[in-house]
Amino acid sequence: MSTLTDPVKVMKQEVGKAAAARVQSGTIVGLGTGSTTAYAIEHLGVRLKSGDLKDIQGIPTSFQAEVLAKQYGIPLTTLDAVDRIDIAIDGADEVDPQKNLIKGGGAAHTREKVVDSLADQFIVVVDAGKLVDLLGSTFLLPVEVIPMAMTPVMRAIEKLGGKPELRMGVKKAGPAITDQGNMVIDVKFDSIDNPAELEKTLNNLPGVLENGLFVGVADLVLVGEVKDGNPVVREM
Ligand code: 5RP
Repeated sequence: MSTLTDPVKVMKQEVGKAAAARVQSGTIVGLGTGSTTAYAIEHLGVRLKSGDLKDIQGIPTSFQAEVLAKQYGIPLTTLDAVDRIDIAIDGADEVDPQKNLIKGGGAAHTREKVVDSLADQFIVVVDAGKLVDLLGSTFLLPVEVIPMAMTPVMRAIEKLGGKPELRMGVKKAGPAITDQGNMVIDVKFDSIDNPAELEKTLNNLPGVLENGLFVGVADLVLVGEVKDGNPVVREM
């Protein structure tokens, strides 16, 4: 460990690179959001520049992913222009042993779920600290809500046994606003025993756009960890 100044950063870099190395020429690539995926996007740019990778098109899951893709020279397309996504790379806030996820730490889970679910192969990139036995153990569950429905949705979530809190902006007064102009409620549930059922129940509340439970969506989870002072990437 002593050789690594910031082990979490190194794990994120390595796992991001490992996922980008799996992308093939001529493919449509879903570009996820967050600090780990940012390294994957950067590495895709490096591969394009070196000529190792050719003719890919990215579909960004957020404004952040779009800006990074442009910065690293990745051509972009939209869901209107393509009939498939070959591969998507995205991070997660928690991963359980069944490869179910909590996402939305960057408030991008609505677009992420659209893109990641459509991909033939969805690769999740995480550092080892994201692995949990039960979803909801370490991270609050994000729920995107249209602003006028905030109060009734919060009340309904309380009736479901959750403790909701409105996500506030950082370096911005007032609530965090999503790329769609909505707000995010972060919910503490004592335990999420049935993620598939909770995902549906929350999405059925009028005013809820999407929640951060991704059940049965991930195909492969790549985990970055440090072993004997060295970063390694393993498949979960
Ligand atoms: C954004 C997300 C991110 O993928 C998730 O928060 C992980 O981010 P990071 O790689 O920075 O830890 O779901 O909405």
